[in-house]
Amino acid sequence: MADLQVFTGTIVHSTDLEPMQILENMAVGVLDNKIVFVEPASELPNLKTKFKIQDTKNITLTQSQFLMPGFVDTHIHAPQFPNNGIHLDLPLLDWLENYTFPTEAKFADGDFARYVYGAAVDRLLRCGTTTASYFGSLHLEGTKILGDTVLARGQRALVGKVNMLMNCPSYYQEASVEDSLRETEELIVYIKNLKSDLVLPIVTPRFAPTCPKEQMKGLAQLAAKHDCHIQSHICESRSEIDWVQELFPWSTSYADVYDTVGLLTDKTVMAHGVWLKDEEVALLKEHGTGVAHCPNSNISLRSGLCDVQRLLRAGLRIGLGTDCSGGYSPSILNSLRQALLVSKTLSTMTEGYESITLKEAFRFATLGGAKVVRMEDRIGNFEVGKEFDALLVDTEATGTPLDIFLEDKTEEKIEKFLYNGDDRNILRVYVAGKKVVDQTRRSSSVIP
Ligand code: GUN
Ligand code: FE
Repeated sequence: MADLQVFTGTIVHSTDLEPMQILENMAVGVLDNKIVFVEPASELPNLKTKFKIQDTKNITLTQSQFLMPGFVDTHIHAPQFPNNGIHLDLPLLDWLENYTFPTEAKFADGDFARYVYGAAVDRLLRCGTTTASYFGSLHLEGTKILGDTVLARGQRALVGKVNMLMNCPSYYQEASVEDSLRETEELIVYIKNLKSDLVLPIVTPRFAPTCPKEQMKGLAQLAAKHDCHIQSHICESRSEIDWVQELFPWSTSYADVYDTVGLLTDKTVMAHGVWLKDEEVALLKEHGTGVAHCPNSNISLRSGLCDVQRLLRAGLRIGLGTDCSGGYSPSILNSLRQALLVSKTLSTMTEGYESITLKEAFRFATLGGAKVVRMEDRIGNFEVGKEFDALLVDTEATGTPLDIFLEDKTEEKIEKFLYNGDDRNILRVYVAGKKVVDQTRRSSSVIP
């Protein structure tokens, strides 16, 4: 059996009752992949007896450090990584055609896929994303490589082969409904055969405009057969919504299209939802479908200001998505900040509108995301019995952009990190109890 790891110091996480709970002088015990105790550090001697602890690995945090749950990115396109930070001059549909499809088409080349996916997963882990819900490209082999890459790097992930069969360029299009379903099933079986608790398949119709009804129905059946997650895009931009109405004239709404074909489930993640009508919100709620809020992308592609407060109040599960490369930043810290700014922008436009708080944005980034991908029984916060997906943050790590002063209280240090910190403050990243990133040398203080 592995040694028990005991972290002592400050922890911060979300619960259903409190968007941000800060606990100081705590001891968190981690055995193999799981959290076995979260108790005041003063209880440690008793805990050692209780758990018959002999060999422990003690990690004692300094006053500038804290432990928080890993970030969950509920919506990201791995093959769009080469485009992060470029090509944001066109709106969604033109952006897809001119920049995105040509880039994704390059993933027919396995070597290119290996090269980019390695860099992408490394970057995300460094940014503290311990769980990601990935869109791959439409290539079966390339998407298998994405699965292999996340497995090798130790990230927790949902991995999907993109499905698209109409209204896409001939050079980047699946061959037929039959081929699409066969390859998708092969990917599902391949990912399941990796036999990892951490990497799961996700059925990934790109969005309604690229998927004929028969294809979407078949994909929904595949998801049901294999008890899979599903992800797609919904109500992102106004021209996209008009197009969906033209393509599916029988439908009463965009959400109705997905509902009719059976794609709305309680394991479905729908990205954006900027322009959802009330009846569509109700449909998502009825099915238990979660929303990936992607504020950077929504602004960068000028899709719109998503009123996430409204979706939250309607009872939808909400997580954050970077939506790289529609959003230019791979960091969920950036999504968190943008979510706040969008919500505050909305509050300047509407009398009496209450914006979300920093603490709520923090919950979206962690526990909320875990709920969207339906992993809340395993990750999202530091409850005993959950798996230990965590970030060891140092607000005073060398060379980082935070100014911490002697007077700063713990809560203020945490807030400064959330607003101004970056990956250099994230000294260590743990997934399921295993250290997957270690840049301890950046610390101004020594930790074992
Ligand atoms: N809608 C369909 N495909 C995409 C995509 O790749 N990015 C975004 N942001 N929206 C989409
Ligand atoms: Fe997207």
